[in-house]
Amino acid sequence: MQALMLLLWTGALLGHSSSQDRAGSPQEDSPAPDTTGVPVEEEDPFFKVPVNKLAAAISNFGYDLYRVRSGLSPAANVLLSPLSVATALSALSLGAEQRTESTIHRALYYDLISNPDIHGTYKELLASVTVPEKNFKSASRIIFERKLRIKSSFVAPLEKSYGTRPRILTGNPRLDLQEVNNWVQAQMKGKIARSTQEIPSGVSILLLGVAYFKGQWVTKFDSRKTSLQDFHLDEERTVTVPMMSDPKAILRYGLDSDLNCKIAQLPLTGRMSIIFFLPLKVTQNLTMIEESLTSEFIHDIDRELKTIQAVLTIPKLKLSYEGEVTKSLQEMKLQSLFDSPDFSKITGKPIKLTQVEHRSGFEWNEDGAGTTPSPGLQPARLTFPLDYHLNQPFIFVLRDTDTGALLFIGKILDPRGI
Ligand SMILES: *[C@@H]1O[C@H](CO)[C@@H](O)[C@H](O)[C@H]1NC(C)=O
Repeated sequence: MQALMLLLWTGALLGHSSSQDRAGSPQEDSPAPDTTGVPVEEEDPFFKVPVNKLAAAISNFGYDLYRVRSGLSPAANVLLSPLSVATALSALSLGAEQRTESTIHRALYYDLISNPDIHGTYKELLASVTVPEKNFKSASRIIFERKLRIKSSFVAPLEKSYGTRPRILTGNPRLDLQEVNNWVQAQMKGKIARSTQEIPSGVSILLLGVAYFKGQWVTKFDSRKTSLQDFHLDEERTVTVPMMSDPKAILRYGLDSDLNCKIAQLPLTGRMSIIFFLPLKVTQNLTMIEESLTSEFIHDIDRELKTIQAVLTIPKLKLSYEGEVTKSLQEMKLQSLFDSPDFSKITGKPIKLTQVEHRSGFEWNEDGAGTTPSPGLQPARLTFPLDYHLNQPFIFVLRDTDTGALLFIGKILDPRGI
């Protein structure tokens, strides 16, 4: 299924911008859409690096989570950093006996990567994506019901690979909320607002994933060119929002004729990029694009887009999210964690997952490193002027260049916020 997508995508791009390149590169070793009807799995060296392979697996979990989340609220923005949720689940799997462990591992696609040292590799991945220059913060925590006695044989590897200590609730709602808020403040350096929502009652295991990102473009936007402009919510309704623009933007671009969308990629400092998916027509129904999102598909896009010059407009964005993703995870073959899982490596008492919470903040504005594009970017010659206006519902993916990890994903139906 995934390989087929990949071939379709390659076909789509071939039709538009890269037929010349492809025809002129005999060393091209990726399989052509063959006549047997069985797509050949591509052996990409990128995915042979253990940390990239792990990043692909948990990012595929992230796209699954995004799809379910988006499906549950088709008319609302979605802002997610699935990495923090994946981290909490991966950490929790350290305390799971075989049946429960394999449930978690399947959801995270670990069964497909045969890595004997998943947790060690995970530590490496976390270290790589949270270096200060990426401006990306992510933290996860496992919170247990009050008075629970936890085995030290669970705590030690948790600290070693995930750098986190489990928390046991006191049972005093005010104190517990304060403690969780203080932890979030410390982890996110105060970038995420304190929550006023009480810790839910009846917690057995609560997973908390938090993340924050503020983008720095490689090429900054001229704030004098920012103005109030229309954003089309759908075919009828329009709102006015601050829109940044660059009449001579250098970006990477491709038209996907299967998904009926224009894909663009803008580089960020810290070796990251944002990939935008913009439908050809104004619509809130982004299902087709959402269905195609996988690590392999995004990796392919990253390779195949062509550098061009365009007239670019993009809304300023400052979004935050605080809420549960419990229901989403229950719909992702993880229901058994909420029923009768086996966490006997954590404690002798029967415990189960009861809540999964996510808090995140995400922002981009004109800020960037330089005023001119890097000299390495030579736009392809185009015979037509290209416009790229993010003035209607779109999807964005924040991706780490080095590992390919999905750091944030958003569905923006209304840039004014949720
Ligand atoms: C959204 O688009 C998909 C695929 O194009 C279609 O199957 C689905 O029915 C649409 N959903 C709505 C709510 O219109």
